[in-house]
Amino acid sequence: MTISMKVDPPVYMFEKRKVIDEYLLKFMPDITKYPQVLHEAIHYSVMAGGKRLRPILALAAFEACGGTGPDIYRAAVAVELIHTYSLIHDDLPCMDDDDLRRGKPSLHNKYGEAIALLAGDALHDFAFRLTAETGNTKIVLELAEAIGTDGMLAGQMADMDAEGRDLSLEEVTYIHVHKTGKLIRGAVRIGALLANAGKKELDAITVYGEKVGHAFQIIDDILDIVGDTEILGKPVGSDSKNNKATYPAIIGLEKSRQIASELIDEAIDTIRTSVSPSDTFVDIARFIGGRQM
Ligand code: IPE
Ligand code: IPE
Ligand code: MG
Ligand code: MG
Ligand code: MG
Repeated sequence: MTISMKVDPPVYMFEKRKVIDEYLLKFMPDITKYPQVLHEAIHYSVMAGGKRLRPILALAAFEACGGTGPDIYRAAVAVELIHTYSLIHDDLPCMDDDDLRRGKPSLHNKYGEAIALLAGDALHDFAFRLTAETGNTKIVLELAEAIGTDGMLAGQMADMDAEGRDLSLEEVTYIHVHKTGKLIRGAVRIGALLANAGKKELDAITVYGEKVGHAFQIIDDILDIVGDTEILGKPVGSDSKNNKATYPAIIGLEKSRQIASELIDEAIDTIRTSVSPSDTFVDIARFIGGRQM
């Protein structure tokens, strides 16, 4: 597929986004309870919008593996809360220092740095609480591994460490696979594990998550150059402002598009041959490949 072609979110994503939003509201802390300002800040960031890609992927994996029952919503919401925490902290002045997120002032701009820090901490807590409530320790561990110092945090650390340095493509790949890929991989695996998927399905879903996760961050780098702030809801040009190590900075836009496109095709091939029905995964992969948002 051609990466520069715009692809709208599939109907599945529209429908599930609504459902996820309802469960987010249901599971988040009561805004009227002390500490109200912290709870308000959490609602501000979580409900500001966002594609809800990771919880939708968790749900898609759960459904494809024949999962039933309501626990998936706790798990899917947990993944989105972790993602939102990572965005709040990523925007802080000590990290990427970005002022806009999901089309609104970033949390530290609106509520100050201390509350932004604590809101991220609180989201982390709520997320683990929700996964623990399912009683399924496999998914609690999966989430911990996805975001810990072997996962997302390793990527965020390497990303900060790389500022202003010249990196090889291999080193930037490490950053991308960890800072973004690991949570996306974790999201699909959590859905599959909760559905008691067999080894063949779990393996295919894992490879799919890795490939679309990697592609997702390459496209994020591309959109940071050619994207539209209005559509993205976050500042374009953040990476060059911070001298970040990105795919386009090393190999240019065209080659970056080509690699992302290959990863999307490989993800689709993997899922088509091993998971049935696979249409939802195919549509989501295509959306990731052509996203402008
Ligand atoms: C942004 O993720 C952060 C990255 C990992 C690149 P998304 O593009 O999924 O952000 P939202 O959730 O839609 O706001
Ligand atoms: C962020 O990568 C990854 C995480 C938040 C873990 P970026 O720094 O590129 O994400 P954006 O562009 O700010 O959304
Ligand atoms: Mg960052
Ligand atoms: Mg950032
Ligand atoms: Mg980015």
